[in-house]
Amino acid sequence: MPVLDKPLIQYGVEEAMDAGMKNIAIITGRGKRALEDHFDISYELEHQISGTPKEDRLESIRKVISECTFAYTRQIEMRGLGDAILTGETLIGNEPFGVILADDLCVGNELGVMTQMARLYEKYRCSILAIEEVEPQDVHKYGVIAGNQLEENIYMISSMVEKPTADEAPSNLAIIGRYILTPDIFDILRRTPPGKNGELQITDALQTQARENMVLAYKFDGRRFDCGSVAGFVEATNYFFTQCGNCD
Ligand code: G1P
Repeated sequence: MPVLDKPLIQYGVEEAMDAGMKNIAIITGRGKRALEDHFDISYELEHQISGTPKEDRLESIRKVISECTFAYTRQIEMRGLGDAILTGETLIGNEPFGVILADDLCVGNELGVMTQMARLYEKYRCSILAIEEVEPQDVHKYGVIAGNQLEENIYMISSMVEKPTADEAPSNLAIIGRYILTPDIFDILRRTPPGKNGELQITDALQTQARENMVLAYKFDGRRFDCGSVAGFVEATNYFFTQCGNCD
């Protein structure tokens, strides 16, 4: 899905790249081969526009391709975000990693959201997830946390619930699609039973990790567009259009 002139996934990859995360593992699935072709050279397209004024439109993707490496693996069935992350284990191995759900398009105020989280990781060395405040009528769309404030904008998680009703929700602090996870999460995921909607939920695994160790929630500096909804997608498009210096 393109927002202005780039597919959403590229915004996600660029955010990771800005945070110094240049080994990109993409969890893909049937019918999404275009994704792999996007992060590759398109000789035909390059040949057609080379030497024309449109050539500068290739700049951003060229930068991504030259700075990052890409590895892909398929999630065979849609068994939840936890399952998707577990599928990535073979590409990630035994090291901490960032997770970006590209349909949450995030714009940081001064630093990218993943960069902010990577800095926090350097200090705390534990799993961190991004949160924002949402309206009570929207909590059912998200994982929702309860926690004790450690510092401004940083909470130590005491519990979390995946997609609660407004009554069940422990707060209005909703998880958005940015995580830094320590690799012990893979073993926890393996012993986590299916949760909400019969899917393996990362929220449930993180709840275990929070109990056994420590997990932080970070209210990031910036804004997020929910591009999984039509309204959010339109809002993102309008936002990037107003920021665009050369959109004619
Ligand atoms: C996933 C997570 C949820 C989180 C959301 C953020 O849900 O399970 O906890 O709040 O991403 O976008 P999904 O939107 O994939 O249903």
